[in-house]
Amino acid sequence: MRVGAASFLGAASRPGHYPPLGAAEIAVGGRSNVGKSSFLNALLGRRGLVRTSRTPGRTRQVNFFAVGEALRLVDLPGYGFATGPATERASWGPLIEDYLATRSTLRGALVLVDVRRGLEADDEQLLAYLAHVELAAAVVVTKVDKLARGAATRAIAAVTASVPVLPFSARTGAGRDAVWGLLRAWLDAPVRTRHNASR
Ligand code: GTP
Ligand code: MG
Repeated sequence: MRVGAASFLGAASRPGHYPPLGAAEIAVGGRSNVGKSSFLNALLGRRGLVRTSRTPGRTRQVNFFAVGEALRLVDLPGYGFATGPATERASWGPLIEDYLATRSTLRGALVLVDVRRGLEADDEQLLAYLAHVELAAAVVVTKVDKLARGAATRAIAAVTASVPVLPFSARTGAGRDAVWGLLRAWLDAPVRTRHNASR
């Protein structure tokens, strides 16, 4: 897929306060520090477009990026960080859930997991929520460069989900073509109807 020019479109820190509807959107979620922002930069071939950090929990907003005319990629706040589950859920839960449930132009969501951790309880919860709102979903196993080849293969095989599982490395670019292939298929598929949204 030829990637069109990418640019930052806007951010939302409260439910409902999103940029005006436009091109089809695909969301990227996952635990804090799993590599969501690095994934987006690698996918777009733009090193510094999306801010990355060593400090977990930096992306607190829903960030929208335009990719050419026909696509937007959306960086969701990371979960699994903060002092306690209740505090954390209070801050990101409603925002992520509102966005995923109501955004009528949203065509699918990628759930990123670290190859060294695999699917954890909050990832499973997010996948269950995506199924509930009838969104296409896939798991992207990130940072595969962090393990030796055999160990990486075993760790990837251990990630079992009822949706596609794709290995990826933002460092080497491995998996980039497969991810683009999946995104293209999502853009070509019919839109969800049941949870069609008003905004
Ligand atoms: P939050 O926004 O805080 O939720 O984090 P994030 O999920 O956006 O993670 P981010 O992209 O900021 O990456 C976190 C750290 O992991 C950074 O130090 C990245 O350089 C590193 N990292 C991300 N992807 C990869 C990868 O594929 N390979 C390696 N080796 N490091 C990676
Ligand atoms: Mg980030």
